[in-house]
Amino acid sequence: MRKIRVVIYGLGAIGALIAKHLINREWIELVGAIDIDPNKVGKDIGEVVGTGKIGAKVIHDDEAEAFLKEKKPDVVVHTVTTYLDKAFPQLEKSITSGANVVSTSETLAYPWYRFPELAEKLDKMAKENNVSVLGTGVNPGFIFDSLPAFLTSVCVKVDKIHVIRSIDAAKRRYPFQKKYGLSLSPEEFREKMAKGEITAHVGYAESIMLIASMLGIKLDRIEEGQEPVIAEKPMKTQYFSIKPGQVCGIRGWGIGYVGDKEFIKLELLAAVGRQDYDEVIIEGEPPLKWRNEYGTSGDIATAAMVINAIPKILEAPKGLITMKDITIPSFKAKI
Ligand SMILES: NC(=O)c1ccc[n+]([C@@H]2O[C@H](COP(=O)([O-])OP(=O)(O)OC[C@H]3O[C@@H](n4cnc5c(N)ncnc54)[C@H](OP(=O)(O)O)[C@@H]3O)[C@@H](O)[C@H]2O)c1
Repeated sequence: MRKIRVVIYGLGAIGALIAKHLINREWIELVGAIDIDPNKVGKDIGEVVGTGKIGAKVIHDDEAEAFLKEKKPDVVVHTVTTYLDKAFPQLEKSITSGANVVSTSETLAYPWYRFPELAEKLDKMAKENNVSVLGTGVNPGFIFDSLPAFLTSVCVKVDKIHVIRSIDAAKRRYPFQKKYGLSLSPEEFREKMAKGEITAHVGYAESIMLIASMLGIKLDRIEEGQEPVIAEKPMKTQYFSIKPGQVCGIRGWGIGYVGDKEFIKLELLAAVGRQDYDEVIIEGEPPLKWRNEYGTSGDIATAAMVINAIPKILEAPKGLITMKDITIPSFKAKI
């Protein structure tokens, strides 16, 4: 069996988690990683992620082009950044080396929404190089889009899809708590959100467009927004002390309308002390309610989706694709 050769672009929290799990997959050969962090560059990947040496190194982004052309990976796992304009140079280097790309970049989950010109460029580039490029993860990629769309496969009629993702922000790692604005005043929250210094969740509209494309629904407009949840009593996480009146989480939403009617409604409720759960309610025939009482984890679920999408992308149509275009992914013990 020829192993699938993989390079990880961006060995941060998610890239490192993916690396740890890829190292144990017998159908994968992890041939290298690319980062800019001087604490990682030059080291063995296994040393960086704590598994012990594996004989594959982390190289600097400045050398990525030559490295990728030499190593010729089948797939680049890209875990660097949320926004496609920032990701573009990394994706370009990967695609032109002949590698397929599975990326966690949220805006790549449905890139025609926020970056239509870059999406066209990427699609052309991917087709010219005979590769596929996919954005996925837990959200976008699963909870707000692929999962509800898949649940409608047992419906003959769908009137509305409503998804609620409820998260205890206190259980998430520091970068999550920071980007959701914990302990800021409401004014600071709004200012930092407006300047892009914090983002909370990115991808409501991408998930809505993904569902609509899967269901063949034409939406008339999309609304998305996020507002702070304010603490009424003192609260504490591992990283932040929150006073009454300060931000302890967010309420975010995305709504896709057909005419004036809400057809897709996505709600993200992430605050300190909230119950973790995910819920999908489908109004239609038959009506459905699906609920994960545990809440679907952020990091490990993202790592798993990326890993399980690797064999799928090799048999996917060429070009810039979405979760609509791959066959249903699942855990993969062997290929
Ligand atoms: N779709 C989903 O469900 C989902 C889920 C989780 C995460 N994400 C997204 O996935 C991305 C990665 O998440 P993360 O938590 O792992 O972020 P992270 O910890 O910041 O990791 C990013 C890594 O990439 C490195 N990097 C920065 N610029 C680079 C470049 N030009 N070339 C190579 N490496 C570079 C960073 O180095 P420095 O630290 O030195 O900058 C860091 O090591 C984020 O955009 C996140 O929002 C999506």
